[in-house]
Amino acid sequence: MNNFTFYSPTYFVFGKETEKQVGQLVKKYGGHKVLIHYGGGSVKRSGLLDRVKASLDAANIAYVELGGVKANPRSGLVREGIELARKENVDFMLPLGGGSVIDSSKAIALGVPYDGDFWDFYCGKAVEAALPVGAIVTLAASGSEGSTDSVVTNEDGMYKRCADGDILRPKFSIMNPELTTTLPPYQTASGITDIIAHCMERYFTKTKDVELTDRLLEAVMLTMIKEGRRAMTDPTNYEARANIMWSATIAHNNITGVGRDQDWGTHHMENELSTTYGCSHGAGLAVLFSSWMRYAMKEDVLRFAQFAVRVWGCEMDFQNPEKTANEGIDRYEAFIKEIGMPISITEIGGKEEDIPKLVESMFHGAPNHGNFIPLTKEIASEIYHMAL
Ligand code: NZQ
Ligand code: ZN
Repeated sequence: MNNFTFYSPTYFVFGKETEKQVGQLVKKYGGHKVLIHYGGGSVKRSGLLDRVKASLDAANIAYVELGGVKANPRSGLVREGIELARKENVDFMLPLGGGSVIDSSKAIALGVPYDGDFWDFYCGKAVEAALPVGAIVTLAASGSEGSTDSVVTNEDGMYKRCADGDILRPKFSIMNPELTTTLPPYQTASGITDIIAHCMERYFTKTKDVELTDRLLEAVMLTMIKEGRRAMTDPTNYEARANIMWSATIAHNNITGVGRDQDWGTHHMENELSTTYGCSHGAGLAVLFSSWMRYAMKEDVLRFAQFAVRVWGCEMDFQNPEKTANEGIDRYEAFIKEIGMPISITEIGGKEEDIPKLVESMFHGAPNHGNFIPLTKEIASEIYHMAL
């Protein structure tokens, strides 16, 4: 096991009607004036925005609001948010939504106290200061409610990049699984795929003797297979939604990833698909992950066979572990298909002739991708071709 530090100070408030506590929580974490940030309207339709305002009013917390965050959030609205927050003396960011809204809020939080362009943090500048963020989660997927990351697309060139730092972990996150019952099936399935992908990015490692985190990752993936199926067939099932929601956080606040090298090459390749074709992040991962595994398997067949046996219930073929490993990948792909996700680039509108552009964009100002398999341009191109 590698040396590590782990600092995860987010205060999680989980369960039915917990959004009603938001006013008191903002007060507890020192906010006086919040910027309520949200997406294209789901929080209005569900009544969440009104409930949040009522709770803030009751706690005497002032607010301004900024809606319109698009899925795979963009730099333009972040800049608008930074300006608004400065003009209005906002001292606390309050995103209501999924990963896109939370990440856009984190970007605004970074930009407000910084003299330069917020994008510097997405090009590797160390993250040191930010406004506090408290999130109300409406989609179980990204894990941004407990993560150190913010992923934003710069409209100048459409580069999707990540800023990260402990300070970006929200002060609190309110997680009411009932809020996720209004999700369209495509978004629920995208979330399930993303959560499993966050486990796989950590699971495929060359670090030895990481039994505890292996087992934690397997537990999250097994839970997602069971509860994912249940939520897809019974979308209002509270217990299924609750297990998925907490899995999303556990999969990505890094408790399952400490002490081991992690890969993330597939996530970096995915960034190009969601920006180019407008698919959800989860759908982009669904398209790529089985091809990445088929490519990467030769690096450590036994690890892939372990994944097949422990997560997908395959029987170990001791004479031919490669056969077991392949069977695990097939079962993963069948599950992804079963929940309604695409499994090829063509299904999301991609074409073979786009691949050189995807590769160039991925490597623009960002030479390093992947760890279990360090990706060169040639390897990335090969995996995109395999995923066609
Ligand atoms: O905009 P509204 O109207 O709210 O609709 C949203 C959006 O269209 C809708 N939605 C959300 N909650 C809903 C709902 N519709 C009905 N009922 C609800 N309760 O869902 C759509 C997608 O939302 P989005 O926030 O984009 O989805 P997700 O949570 O999957 O976030 C994806 C983003 O997170 C990034 C991805 O790259 C992508 O940009 N990630 C962030 C990470 C992090 N910060 O740690 C890690 C992840 O790997 C991921 O990369
Ligand atoms: Zn992800």
